[in-house]
Amino acid sequence: MRLIPLDAVPNGAELGRDVIGDREDGIPLLRAGTALTPRFKEGLVRAGVHAVYVSDEVSRGINPRPVMSDATRAAATAAVASTFEIVRSALDAGEPLTGEMLDNAGAVAGRMAGEIGRDGDVALALADMSSADHYTLQHAIDVAALGVLIGQRLYRERGYLDYRGERSFERIERRLASLALGLLIQDIGKLAIPREVLAKRDPLNDYEWALIQAHPLTGAEMLRSESVSMLVKTTVRSHHERWDGGGYPDGKVADETHEHARIGAVADAYDAITSERPHAHARPAHVGVRVIREGRGTLFDPEVVDVFSKIVAPYPPGDAIELSDGRGGVVASVSEDEIDRPVVRVLGDGQPYELPLAEHPEVRILGWEDMDPAPEPRRHWK
Ligand SMILES: [Fe+2]
Repeated sequence: MRLIPLDAVPNGAELGRDVIGDREDGIPLLRAGTALTPRFKEGLVRAGVHAVYVSDEVSRGINPRPVMSDATRAAATAAVASTFEIVRSALDAGEPLTGEMLDNAGAVAGRMAGEIGRDGDVALALADMSSADHYTLQHAIDVAALGVLIGQRLYRERGYLDYRGERSFERIERRLASLALGLLIQDIGKLAIPREVLAKRDPLNDYEWALIQAHPLTGAEMLRSESVSMLVKTTVRSHHERWDGGGYPDGKVADETHEHARIGAVADAYDAITSERPHAHARPAHVGVRVIREGRGTLFDPEVVDVFSKIVAPYPPGDAIELSDGRGGVVASVSEDEIDRPVVRVLGDGQPYELPLAEHPEVRILGWEDMDPAPEPRRHWK
């Protein structure tokens, strides 16, 4: 299958993957296999979806592997939706959250920690096709998924920092579950912000920015109960800190910020850039990858970026690309050794054929430097 902008999808084309909504039962808006009639396409446009995976003859055999199974994503969607409801009620009542209120999210975090990244895959299809309307919910799940993917590799290679500040390899899966829970709820402070501000398309004024930037502290305040784990609290409070001290709310520098929050910062920025949001269209994976790589040692923890760079491909399978010699095609496969030089299925007038870019250094994929205007790396993402 391949990823195509919705307005270029031929009528009757077969949807390659589920389009996710935010129903509490996790049922998707449209299922893989659906024939995309004009009516379905209009519905997707209305829901804020701008690109979909399509299964067709020329992309046969190209299968972007989702980062988690459909069943786990559905369970995560249901658990996070119900947790957000509980948080909203607690906010209305002015009550702090208790550890018990996070049990649903904790259970699904454990399931994600047990499933994601086990096969050592790279270049998984991280961004599920979800609409801008469902950004808050699916963003939480995708940030947790990417965080587990990074944490899995990082902890297995060099252990995690335990409470004594020493590297540990003990019970890594439990540690990943705790990371996933923190990332699933890192933005709960945003549930206290008026929807009009979060969904605003125009630039924010100073007051509105201040509201947005208060969300890590608001979230930490909501989690003040002693029954909530310290690891979760610190992830929520510190996920907008930056390696060079330019973040908020505390301006912490380098490893003064907890490791979980340093992983959360990278996962949050990448997923924000590559997702449909109310005020910005999804950018391609290579834009997100470049922003993260360029932020190495300034915005982001260099070690976290190094792991990210090994497992998140700028051109994942299914991506439509153009080559510097004028040929175009779809990324067919990516290997970790050559993560920037995938095998491309070239589509033209004749029979499609596969071109391993690792063996053709004279050809490059048109990307960031060819975009007009080039996207500006930013320090903060809403
Ligand atoms: Fe945030």
